[in-house]
Amino acid sequence: MIVLKTRNEIEKIRAASKYAMEILLYIKDFIKEGIKTMELERLCEDRIKQYSKKVRPAFKGYNGYPYCLCISVNDEVVHGMPNERVLKRGDIVSLDFGIEYDGFYGDVALTEGVGDISEDAKRLLLITEESLYKGINETREGNRLNDISYAIQHHVESAGFSVVREFVGHGIGRNLHEEPQVPNFGEKGKGIRLKKGMVFAIEPMVNMGNYKVYIKENGWTAATVDGSLSAHFEHTVAITDKGTEILSKL
Ligand code: MF3
Ligand code: CO
Repeated sequence: MIVLKTRNEIEKIRAASKYAMEILLYIKDFIKEGIKTMELERLCEDRIKQYSKKVRPAFKGYNGYPYCLCISVNDEVVHGMPNERVLKRGDIVSLDFGIEYDGFYGDVALTEGVGDISEDAKRLLLITEESLYKGINETREGNRLNDISYAIQHHVESAGFSVVREFVGHGIGRNLHEEPQVPNFGEKGKGIRLKKGMVFAIEPMVNMGNYKVYIKENGWTAATVDGSLSAHFEHTVAITDKGTEILSKL
């Protein structure tokens, strides 16, 4: 069932999403050569404590996930776990972060390079972020769900990259993950019709090589089978009377 949200509910999702983006951008500035990913997790925990008690990390405890942040480096696609890995120049780091606030969720992600990264890696980040905006641009009343998916896939594949199939965007609201699933691949004109009150976390995951992924031994982290780099950008977006609103935009 797809839950349509009222204006009041959308404002609460906006509050959660803005907290999530604010903290994500704070953490992004610490992505430097020599820092351990676990240190980013600690900084994130400390930052959350500076807000009201109602601002809660959404991922911690979700299906047993033990951390606030997902940190996926290089060939890791999503659900990377903070650990003792030391970031080095040329790495690309995907940060994925969610907040629960006042009973509602916001979910955001971005990928950032460590120091100088290769021209190819820069292009991967650019195309992935652009594809998110191509998807958001198709997120409007009267369109079909897979118009979003198609726009993302088309942009990514035109650039010679591939979209991950196993992980998708999702509805969001009183739950982190709600119906419908929002795939990053699909056929224009297919899927449910989009309506006012729908809120989605749109999150393309893009591989430089093949789209296939596997799960690492920790049971969480997805990585590319061919070892190629992967990038991830995510916004929480609502369809309202005013049009399409990026709730996680500051
Ligand atoms: N943005 C990710 C998603 O929507 C959040 C990871 S969920 C957790 O799938 F399990 F890691 F918490
Ligand atoms: Co998400």
